[in-house]
Amino acid sequence: MSQMVLHPGLADVPVAESAVSFIDGKRARLEYRGIAVETLARESCFEETTWLLLKGDLPTQGQLADFDDQLRHHRRIKYKLNDLIKCLPEQGHPMYALQAAVAAMGMFYPARDVSNAQSNWDSAVRLVAKLPTVVAAFQRLRYGDEAITPRDDLDHAANFYYMLFEKEPTPAVRKVIDACLVLHAEHTMNASTFSGRVTGSTLANPYTVISSAIGTLTGPLHGGANEEVLDMLEEIGSVANVRNWVEDAVAKKKKIMGFGHRVYKVKDPRATVLQELAEHVFAETGRPAIYDVAVEMERVMAGILGPKGIYPNVDFYSGIVYQALKIPRDLFTPIFAMARVAGWLAHWLEQLQNNRIFRPEQIYVGKTDASYVPLEKRP
Ligand code: SDX
Repeated sequence: MSQMVLHPGLADVPVAESAVSFIDGKRARLEYRGIAVETLARESCFEETTWLLLKGDLPTQGQLADFDDQLRHHRRIKYKLNDLIKCLPEQGHPMYALQAAVAAMGMFYPARDVSNAQSNWDSAVRLVAKLPTVVAAFQRLRYGDEAITPRDDLDHAANFYYMLFEKEPTPAVRKVIDACLVLHAEHTMNASTFSGRVTGSTLANPYTVISSAIGTLTGPLHGGANEEVLDMLEEIGSVANVRNWVEDAVAKKKKIMGFGHRVYKVKDPRATVLQELAEHVFAETGRPAIYDVAVEMERVMAGILGPKGIYPNVDFYSGIVYQALKIPRDLFTPIFAMARVAGWLAHWLEQLQNNRIFRPEQIYVGKTDASYVPLEKRP
């Protein structure tokens, strides 16, 4: 008889030592390399935060300028990759397009020797730089429009907005997009990061590592929840309907999207910052009715599921921000991936420093010593 104990969802089971980020789930505290995420969202930018995650410390002015140059230089994608994206079904989800394009990138930029630090760094720069171009290209190409060439004179956030809408964002909108990228850049040992580390532990190439992680992020229990939150808020429809809807959902034991977290037992600090950002965006776009539904939902949920430690997570307010910016709903999770690629890569590089292939155990509950009955003798 096996003495092993199963931990469903690997809850409370450490799978690595990591110095990338830290969460205190009771104090609503998230730090990247020791720095509070709220500070980074307000005072840093996605480029600097990415360097911090990848390298472990804040860059000097020269390092940041050089890194920013490298990112701008690597934004373009090969015309064959553009052709590949053009051939993908336009009704398919952009996350699948992103996963396919990133996997294909590994054929354009072979990087199989993961013991080569320079090659690993080059791959990391390419991946961070090119993901927004792929997301924007799929968005344009699926409607029969030409993809928009990235602009080297714009920063990461502004260039992404430009590639989607063919116009520059206002400074306030640029700051909101940039802060959203910072807030989504890293989050300890979540499902997609673990998936990337597992793939990385086989010494697979970095494009395969990131495409595994992208695939894991698609699920509605993980990154995919941000789209479903808006569907849910629209279904609820009005502030007056919130209480009945929530009580009915709880009675039916439905999972309420955008709420709950394995680690946070209080409101996710990222949700707090995203809510502030939403209010900044509304100063430009007007306050949508759906926001009032969300705020009421948070209030009602605090009374009903708050005692169980179920509060808004990062996905609850992000969709409201993106919708106010007129970003299509199925791009919300790809934008999460464009940000999280920084964290995935930091974990991949960390995994390689002290690698051992992941090979956990199972508790076998199937038959043993079963006999093979020839086909003609089976009932
Ligand atoms: C992300 O891990 C990360 O860090 C992820 C992430 C990141 O940045 O990488 O933060 C991003 O994935 C955010 C989460 C997005 N997903 C959702 O919003 C989907 C809805 N939330 C849940 O399904 C759930 O809360 C999870 C998936 C987020 C966490 O799942 P757990 O830790 O496995 O918890 P569980 O499902 O076992 O729930 C524990 C209890 C259960 O009740 P009991 O059976 O004990 O009575 O809490 C209840 C659950 O039913 N519960 C909920 C709920 N979340 C938990 N009940 C209703 N609605 C919810 N949302």
